[in-house]
Amino acid sequence: MIVSPSILAADFNNLDLEMKKVNDSSCEWVHLDVMDGKFVPNTTFDEKLVKKLRPISNKVFDVHLMIEKPEEHLMKYYEAGADYVTFHFEACDNILEVLKDVKSKNLKIGLSIKPGTSVTVLDEYLPYLDLILIMSVEPGKGGQKFMDSCLDKIAYLVKKREENNYSYLVEVDGGINDQTAILVKKVGCDAVVAGTYLFKNEDFIKATFELGEI
Ligand code: DX5
Ligand code: ZN
Repeated sequence: MIVSPSILAADFNNLDLEMKKVNDSSCEWVHLDVMDGKFVPNTTFDEKLVKKLRPISNKVFDVHLMIEKPEEHLMKYYEAGADYVTFHFEACDNILEVLKDVKSKNLKIGLSIKPGTSVTVLDEYLPYLDLILIMSVEPGKGGQKFMDSCLDKIAYLVKKREENNYSYLVEVDGGINDQTAILVKKVGCDAVVAGTYLFKNEDFIKATFELGEI
Protein backbone atom coordinates (compact mmCIF):
# COMPACT_ATOMS: atom_id res chain seq x y z
CA MET A 1 0.00 0.00 0.00
CA ILE A 2 0.96 3.61 -0.42
CA VAL A 3 2.07 5.03 2.94
CA SER A 4 1.44 8.67 3.77
CA PRO A 5 2.99 9.61 7.15
CA SER A 6 1.00 12.40 8.80
CA ILE A 7 3.36 15.08 10.04
CA LEU A 8 0.70 16.09 12.56
CA ALA A 9 2.37 13.56 14.87
CA ALA A 10 5.89 14.81 14.09
CA ASP A 11 7.98 16.94 16.42
CA PHE A 12 7.30 20.46 15.12
CA ASN A 13 10.31 21.81 16.98
CA ASN A 14 12.51 19.59 14.83
CA LEU A 15 10.58 19.60 11.62
CA ASP A 16 13.65 19.60 9.36
CA LEU A 17 14.88 16.45 11.05
CA GLU A 18 11.42 14.86 10.90
CA MET A 19 11.18 15.63 7.18
CA LYS A 20 14.59 14.08 6.68
CA LYS A 21 13.25 10.88 8.27
CA VAL A 22 10.32 10.95 5.88
CA ASN A 23 12.61 11.57 2.91
CA ASP A 24 14.94 8.74 3.90
CA SER A 25 12.07 6.28 4.30
CA SER A 26 10.29 4.20 1.66
CA CYS A 27 6.98 6.08 1.88
CA GLU A 28 5.69 7.51 -1.38
CA TRP A 29 3.57 10.30 0.08
CA VAL A 30 3.52 12.68 3.03
CA HIS A 31 0.22 13.76 4.60
CA LEU A 32 -0.26 17.39 5.64
CA ASP A 33 -3.25 18.08 7.91
CA VAL A 34 -4.59 21.61 7.64
CA MET A 35 -7.07 22.61 10.39
CA ASP A 36 -8.75 26.00 10.67
CA GLY A 37 -10.24 25.91 14.17
CA LYS A 38 -13.75 26.10 12.62
CA PHE A 39 -14.42 22.90 10.68
CA VAL A 40 -12.54 21.16 13.50
CA PRO A 41 -11.70 22.66 16.92
CA ASN A 42 -7.92 22.63 16.43
CA THR A 43 -5.76 24.86 14.27
CA THR A 44 -2.58 23.57 12.66
CA PHE A 45 -0.88 25.31 9.73
CA ASP A 46 -1.70 26.72 6.33
CA GLU A 47 -0.16 26.85 2.86
CA LYS A 48 2.93 28.63 4.16
CA LEU A 49 4.19 25.42 5.74
CA VAL A 50 3.53 23.48 2.54
CA LYS A 51 5.59 26.06 0.67
CA LYS A 52 8.39 25.84 3.23
CA LEU A 53 8.59 22.05 3.08
CA ARG A 54 8.30 21.73 -0.70
CA PRO A 55 11.96 22.39 -1.53
CA ILE A 56 13.20 19.88 1.05
CA SER A 57 11.17 16.84 -0.07
CA ASN A 58 10.46 14.97 -3.29
CA LYS A 59 7.61 12.98 -1.76
CA VAL A 60 4.07 13.38 -3.06
CA PHE A 61 2.40 16.07 -0.94
CA ASP A 62 -1.01 14.79 0.17
CA VAL A 63 -2.76 17.81 1.68
CA HIS A 64 -5.88 17.18 3.80
CA LEU A 65 -7.95 20.31 4.31
CA MET A 66 -10.10 20.23 7.44
CA ILE A 67 -11.36 23.74 6.82
CA GLU A 68 -14.59 25.54 6.08
CA LYS A 69 -15.14 26.99 2.61
CA PRO A 70 -12.30 24.98 1.07
CA GLU A 71 -13.13 26.39 -2.37
CA GLU A 72 -11.76 29.75 -1.25
CA HIS A 73 -8.37 28.30 -0.28
CA LEU A 74 -7.68 25.29 -2.52
CA MET A 75 -5.57 27.02 -5.15
CA LYS A 76 -3.11 28.40 -2.58
CA TYR A 77 -2.18 24.84 -1.68
CA TYR A 78 -1.46 23.79 -5.26
CA GLU A 79 0.58 26.95 -5.72
CA ALA A 80 2.53 26.09 -2.56
CA GLY A 81 3.42 22.68 -4.01
CA ALA A 82 0.65 20.26 -3.05
CA ASP A 83 0.20 17.29 -5.39
CA TYR A 84 -3.18 16.16 -4.07
CA VAL A 85 -5.52 18.52 -2.24
CA THR A 86 -8.41 16.83 -0.42
CA PHE A 87 -11.34 18.70 1.08
CA HIS A 88 -14.36 17.60 3.09
CA PHE A 89 -17.77 16.80 1.68
CA GLU A 90 -19.26 18.25 4.88
CA ALA A 91 -17.49 21.61 4.43
CA CYS A 92 -18.48 22.60 0.90
CA ASP A 93 -21.79 23.58 -0.75
CA ASN A 94 -20.74 23.57 -4.41
CA ILE A 95 -18.63 20.43 -4.69
CA LEU A 96 -19.32 19.62 -8.34
CA GLU A 97 -18.39 23.10 -9.45
CA VAL A 98 -15.14 22.96 -7.46
CA LEU A 99 -14.22 19.53 -8.84
CA LYS A 100 -14.84 20.58 -12.45
CA ASP A 101 -12.81 23.74 -11.98
CA VAL A 102 -9.82 21.93 -10.44
CA LYS A 103 -9.92 19.17 -13.06
CA SER A 104 -9.95 21.76 -15.86
CA LYS A 105 -6.59 22.89 -14.52
CA ASN A 106 -5.23 19.33 -14.65
CA LEU A 107 -4.67 19.17 -10.91
CA LYS A 108 -5.29 16.22 -8.60
CA ILE A 109 -8.27 16.53 -6.29
CA GLY A 110 -9.59 14.48 -3.39
CA LEU A 111 -12.78 14.39 -1.35
CA SER A 112 -13.08 13.15 2.23
CA ILE A 113 -15.97 12.00 4.41
CA LYS A 114 -16.24 11.88 8.19
CA PRO A 115 -17.10 8.59 9.95
CA GLY A 116 -20.76 9.56 10.29
CA THR A 117 -21.26 10.40 6.61
CA SER A 118 -22.67 7.78 4.27
CA VAL A 119 -20.36 6.75 1.44
CA THR A 120 -23.16 6.98 -1.12
CA VAL A 121 -23.12 10.80 -0.90
CA LEU A 122 -19.96 10.52 -3.01
CA ASP A 123 -21.66 8.73 -5.93
CA GLU A 124 -22.17 11.77 -8.13
CA TYR A 125 -18.58 12.95 -7.64
CA LEU A 126 -16.76 9.68 -8.33
CA PRO A 127 -15.97 10.35 -12.02
CA TYR A 128 -14.10 13.55 -11.12
CA LEU A 129 -12.02 12.33 -8.22
CA ASP A 130 -8.35 11.35 -8.07
CA LEU A 131 -8.48 10.45 -4.39
CA ILE A 132 -11.08 9.57 -1.78
CA LEU A 133 -10.05 9.91 1.84
CA ILE A 134 -12.17 7.83 4.19
CA MET A 135 -11.89 9.01 7.78
CA SER A 136 -11.57 6.18 10.26
CA VAL A 137 -11.62 8.63 13.20
CA GLU A 138 -13.38 11.95 13.76
CA PRO A 139 -11.19 14.52 12.02
CA GLY A 140 -9.40 16.96 14.30
CA LYS A 141 -6.63 15.19 16.11
CA GLY A 142 -4.17 12.33 15.94
CA GLY A 143 -3.86 9.33 18.24
CA GLN A 144 -7.49 8.19 18.17
CA LYS A 145 -8.85 4.67 17.89
CA PHE A 146 -9.57 3.20 14.45
CA MET A 147 -13.30 2.85 13.67
CA ASP A 148 -14.04 -0.19 11.55
CA SER A 149 -17.08 1.43 9.92
CA CYS A 150 -14.60 2.60 7.27
CA LEU A 151 -14.19 -0.94 5.95
CA ASP A 152 -17.55 -1.22 4.19
CA LYS A 153 -17.05 2.24 2.70
CA ILE A 154 -13.68 1.28 1.25
CA ALA A 155 -15.10 -1.96 -0.17
CA TYR A 156 -18.00 -0.01 -1.73
CA LEU A 157 -15.64 2.45 -3.43
CA VAL A 158 -13.35 -0.29 -4.74
CA LYS A 159 -16.37 -2.10 -6.22
CA LYS A 160 -17.74 1.10 -7.81
CA ARG A 161 -14.34 1.76 -9.35
CA GLU A 162 -14.23 -1.70 -10.88
CA GLU A 163 -17.75 -1.49 -12.23
CA ASN A 164 -17.34 1.96 -13.78
CA ASN A 165 -13.65 2.16 -14.62
CA TYR A 166 -13.12 5.12 -12.34
CA SER A 167 -9.55 6.06 -11.56
CA TYR A 168 -9.53 7.39 -7.98
CA LEU A 169 -7.34 6.00 -5.24
CA VAL A 170 -8.89 5.10 -1.89
CA GLU A 171 -7.02 6.26 1.21
CA VAL A 172 -7.91 5.81 4.86
CA ASP A 173 -7.00 8.19 7.68
CA GLY A 174 -7.01 7.67 11.45
CA GLY A 175 -5.81 5.02 13.89
CA ILE A 176 -3.71 3.16 11.33
CA ASN A 177 -1.07 0.77 12.66
CA ASP A 178 0.36 -2.59 11.59
CA GLN A 179 -2.88 -4.33 12.62
CA THR A 180 -5.55 -1.97 11.28
CA ALA A 181 -3.59 -1.64 8.02
CA ILE A 182 -4.17 -5.35 7.43
CA LEU A 183 -7.92 -4.83 7.76
CA VAL A 184 -8.07 -1.97 5.23
CA LYS A 185 -5.77 -3.77 2.79
CA LYS A 186 -8.12 -6.78 2.85
CA VAL A 187 -10.97 -4.65 1.51
CA GLY A 188 -8.83 -3.12 -1.23
CA CYS A 189 -7.55 0.15 0.20
CA ASP A 190 -4.76 1.77 -1.85
CA ALA A 191 -3.17 4.17 0.65
CA VAL A 192 -2.91 4.61 4.42
CA VAL A 193 -2.25 7.75 6.45
CA ALA A 194 -0.38 7.05 9.66
CA GLY A 195 0.69 9.65 12.21
CA THR A 196 1.14 8.39 15.74
CA TYR A 197 2.11 4.86 14.73
CA LEU A 198 5.02 6.02 12.58
CA PHE A 199 6.29 9.15 14.32
CA LYS A 200 6.10 7.71 17.84
CA ASN A 201 7.74 4.50 16.65
CA GLU A 202 11.31 3.92 17.76
CA ASP A 203 12.21 2.96 14.19
CA PHE A 204 10.33 5.21 11.76
CA ILE A 205 12.11 3.85 8.69
CA LYS A 206 11.42 0.20 9.52
CA ALA A 207 7.78 0.80 10.55
CA THR A 208 7.14 2.79 7.37
CA PHE A 209 8.67 0.07 5.21
CA GLU A 210 6.67 -2.68 6.90
CA LEU A 211 3.41 -0.76 6.57
CA GLY A 212 4.07 -0.39 2.86
CA GLU A 213 4.62 -4.14 2.52
CA ILE A 214 1.14 -4.95 3.90
C1 DX5 B 1 -6.97 13.50 11.95
C2 DX5 B 1 -5.98 13.65 10.84
C3 DX5 B 1 -5.08 12.50 10.66
C4 DX5 B 1 -4.18 12.22 11.84
C5 DX5 B 1 -3.96 10.76 11.90
O1 DX5 B 1 -7.87 14.50 11.89
O2 DX5 B 1 -6.64 13.85 9.62
O3 DX5 B 1 -4.32 12.59 9.46
O4 DX5 B 1 -2.94 12.86 11.75
O5 DX5 B 1 -3.30 10.48 13.05
P1 DX5 B 1 -3.16 9.02 13.68
O6 DX5 B 1 -2.45 8.19 12.65
O7 DX5 B 1 -2.40 9.27 14.89
O8 DX5 B 1 -4.55 8.52 13.93
ZN1 ZN C 1 -5.50 13.69 7.72
